[in-house]
Amino acid sequence: MENHEYFKVWQEGLFQGKACLITGGSGTICRQQAAALMKLGCSVSIVGRDQEQVDSVVSLLEKIGAQAKAKVVGFGGCDVRSIESMAAVVAKTVSAFGKIDYVICGAAGNFMSDFNHLSANAFKTVVDIDLLGSFNTVKACYPELVKSKGSVLFISATLHYYGVPFQSHVGAAKAGIDALSNALAVEFGPIGIRCNCIAPGPIGGTEGFNRLVPNKKNFESKIPLQRVGRTKDIANATIFLFSPAAEWITGTVMVVDGGFWQMGNFN
Ligand code: HXC
Repeated sequence: MENHEYFKVWQEGLFQGKACLITGGSGTICRQQAAALMKLGCSVSIVGRDQEQVDSVVSLLEKIGAQAKAKVVGFGGCDVRSIESMAAVVAKTVSAFGKIDYVICGAAGNFMSDFNHLSANAFKTVVDIDLLGSFNTVKACYPELVKSKGSVLFISATLHYYGVPFQSHVGAAKAGIDALSNALAVEFGPIGIRCNCIAPGPIGGTEGFNRLVPNKKNFESKIPLQRVGRTKDIANATIFLFSPAAEWITGTVMVVDGGFWQMGNFN
């Protein structure tokens, strides 16, 4: 996990007393989002499928929490494809923190496959994890978000802005997430809940990056800002979108990719 001095930009205690539930919370990007929120005082609930991975991220985060007066709880064995599974972790999170202010729908699945070798079940699996999983997460958290006038962050991508080969299933799922976020932003706006997306570009050290960019030689030169993304780049965007500085921002997709997709370089 990277160590960053968020206080140089963000105010200490910005999220004191707040609570955030993060699906896919033990993944490389999401655990950095969790760490950043915790450094600013937010308690976090890490939700994932793999109990061991969740436990190891929770013990890393506990150290950050001790310094920032923020708590962390972790729930493994939760599959976002099951609304019952999500409802159970929401209940446990509320019992730990008394509330949920922020939600990050970070759980995702991905593999490379050309259309000819992509079974109907393989397509459905990714759509179910990414899109239905995001729906289930918001559905299960909704009563708490209504009470807290909270904020939702979906994790999308830039794959569907153009055609990325071997990613038809992921592109379709991520396009759906953008659409879900847009619709919910409009529905939830009048009750004080904001919904936004972050679309990360190539973030070093992630499974997605390793699968999509097997040849990393001179890769930085293909990115307008001349470096691969870091997990802190997504964490900084997350802090901004949850913070009061973004109080009039809903229904937006924040692309955090160093300008990469504008170059069309996946093709
Ligand atoms: C073709 C594949 C496949 C592959 C699985 N399948 N892997 N097909 N190529 N490499 C097919 C299986 O054969 C099966 O179809 C169906 O998909 C379901 O597979 P299961 O293994 O039963 O599913 P499950 O156990 O639920 O696992 C889901 C998973 C897995 C997505 C397949 O990889 C996973 O759990 N991933 C989570 C972690 C992850 O991927 N993280 C990376 C996120 S990166 P059949 O027809 O045989 O039944 C990311 C970035 C995206 O999301 C954007 C990048 C810019």
